[in-house]
Amino acid sequence: MTLIETVSDLRHWRKTAGTVHFVPTMGALHEGHAALIRTARQRAGSSGKVAVSIFVNPLQFGPNEDFDRYPRTLEPDLATCQEAGADVVFAPAVSEVYHRDRSIKILETSLSQVLCGASRPGHFDGVCTVVAKLFNLVQPDEAVFGKKDYQQLAIIRRLVRDLDIPVHIHGLDTVRESDGLALSSRNRYLTAAERAQAPALRAALEKAHATWQTGVTSSRKLLDLIHQHLAEHASLGRKDYIALVDQQSLQPVEIARPGTLIALAIHFGKTRLIDNLELG
Ligand code: PAF
Repeated sequence: MTLIETVSDLRHWRKTAGTVHFVPTMGALHEGHAALIRTARQRAGSSGKVAVSIFVNPLQFGPNEDFDRYPRTLEPDLATCQEAGADVVFAPAVSEVYHRDRSIKILETSLSQVLCGASRPGHFDGVCTVVAKLFNLVQPDEAVFGKKDYQQLAIIRRLVRDLDIPVHIHGLDTVRESDGLALSSRNRYLTAAERAQAPALRAALEKAHATWQTGVTSSRKLLDLIHQHLAEHASLGRKDYIALVDQQSLQPVEIARPGTLIALAIHFGKTRLIDNLELG
């Protein structure tokens, strides 16, 4: 596995790399990222190459968010990439990626206005800008993203559609702890008491799913059920949002149908956890 830190070395590598499957990350890699890389490895086969980027993108952090606090763990991350089958890791400095006088960014004006985007103005514009840049640099044939960040995945699909970026986007199911908590770099910030309550997020989603399967399709009723479950089992949590939305437009729906997405974000102290479930 090769570590590449500059744009010029990456361009040089790309010239002879052939088919490339790409996993963009911000590092602090956990088993969820390893699953993305393993999937890329599997889909690339023995002839394709797997590239992983590790870059904590300042553009996607708001002024009061955790950019400085975001964990930077390059050495163990490289070991994870190697074990999961990466051929190349691109880990540039901020100055390699962004010109000091940069003046262009990508704005997403619809999907990013709801769910996580409603409380994180500009976040998805930062994501779109860096992902478009990474796609231009790595020129992957396929990129793999996790479904835990479902809104991000929907926005990336829209980005490549609207800007005609020639890359196939593959979405991978969320990897979970044995008690259902979705893996996240931010789980490490939970106190023991918060960690004990955090699986209630998944349990609430599954309860809503099971109730929907009995024929309850009113979003209002399903939302009430989730609120009630969280009130009983996640008293330390503070709701950011809980919503039933259309999978593509991410707009709220009144009637839950197969494919409807239930998404939620809950604060535990300073840590914000997200999860989602596709009805089906
Ligand atoms: O999901 C992430 O880790 C980041 O948002 C991404 C896609 C790597 C862009 O910085």
